[in-house]
Amino acid sequence: MKVDDVKVVGVLGAGTMGNGIAQVCAMAGFEVIMRDIKQEFVDRGMQTIKKSLSKFVEKGKISEDDMNATLSRIKTTLDLKDFENVDVVIEAVIENMDVKKQVFKELSEIVKREDAIFASNTSTLSITEMATVVKKPENFVGIHFMNPVPLMKGVEIVRGLLTSDETLNFAVEFVKRIGKEPVVCKDSAGFISNRILMPWINEGIYVLYEGIATKEEIDKGMRLFTNVPMGPLELADLIGLDICLAAIETLHRELGDKYKPCPLLKQMVRAGLLGRKTGRGFYDYTK
Ligand SMILES: NC(=O)c1ccc[n+]([C@@H]2O[C@H](COP(=O)([O-])OP(=O)(O)OC[C@H]3O[C@@H](n4cnc5c(N)ncnc54)[C@H](O)[C@@H]3O)[C@@H](O)[C@H]2O)c1
Repeated sequence: MKVDDVKVVGVLGAGTMGNGIAQVCAMAGFEVIMRDIKQEFVDRGMQTIKKSLSKFVEKGKISEDDMNATLSRIKTTLDLKDFENVDVVIEAVIENMDVKKQVFKELSEIVKREDAIFASNTSTLSITEMATVVKKPENFVGIHFMNPVPLMKGVEIVRGLLTSDETLNFAVEFVKRIGKEPVVCKDSAGFISNRILMPWINEGIYVLYEGIATKEEIDKGMRLFTNVPMGPLELADLIGLDICLAAIETLHRELGDKYKPCPLLKQMVRAGLLGRKTGRGFYDYTK
């Protein structure tokens, strides 16, 4: 398929990543249908999109008309069957292989277009494995956006073992069309981004856990020492601690003990302290 043939993009999940992906696709002129499992999640996703677009208007980056046109291109649903006419699917549901496989399996029966592209936004999980549940594994690819999606330029394109050259090229061209910069790599746990980033975050949590410094000192230190915009703990709060734990557990399982998750990260996830999305993580966002 060529990018010019794409009319409708289906986005699965309206959470941190799904709503951002829906937004950037709609901003690029595609029709978008975004699906989550509860109306409140879909509504929250739409609110986030409206807030983000309003900020672009305030900053003069887009006009009010652009904002309204973008919003009019996004439809929402709770019903997977509404994906029957999509050309491309981008999946951004929770970081769990079984859930992702289940949803792709159902979709593979629903989407009518024979050459539809199936893409996952997974942070770490195997694209090759996910591709086994769709009818055409050669049409499956990883398209891994960064958070926050409307602002971050880089998108990782992950080639599964069976991904065809055509699908890979499609993903590269699609990402360019929505104004992002593609970076290609092979399917391996964590790809480039999280293979490097997640151990950095996990080590930041260990430094806190071992009482070496306060959270504020750790974040301030890493910002000042390495010129990154966020330290490891504030970044973990932005990503979501459940997502970080799932990612580091995949690296641990696939690549060995070097990637063992910090016990404090596990405890915080058990306590429901997931970061910004729940109002509390390493920092408190409720005030
Ligand atoms: N948070 C990040 O910084 C980040 C960055 C890059 C990639 N990712 C990846 O993106 C994916 C989504 O992460 P997130 O941070 O947006 O998570 P999130 O928890 O914010 O959102 C996930 C959403 O998926 C929904 N969902 C669950 N099952 C579903 C289904 N069957 N159909 C439709 N929706 C369903 C949930 O209700 C929830 O709203 C994960 O694979 C994650 O690893 C996350």
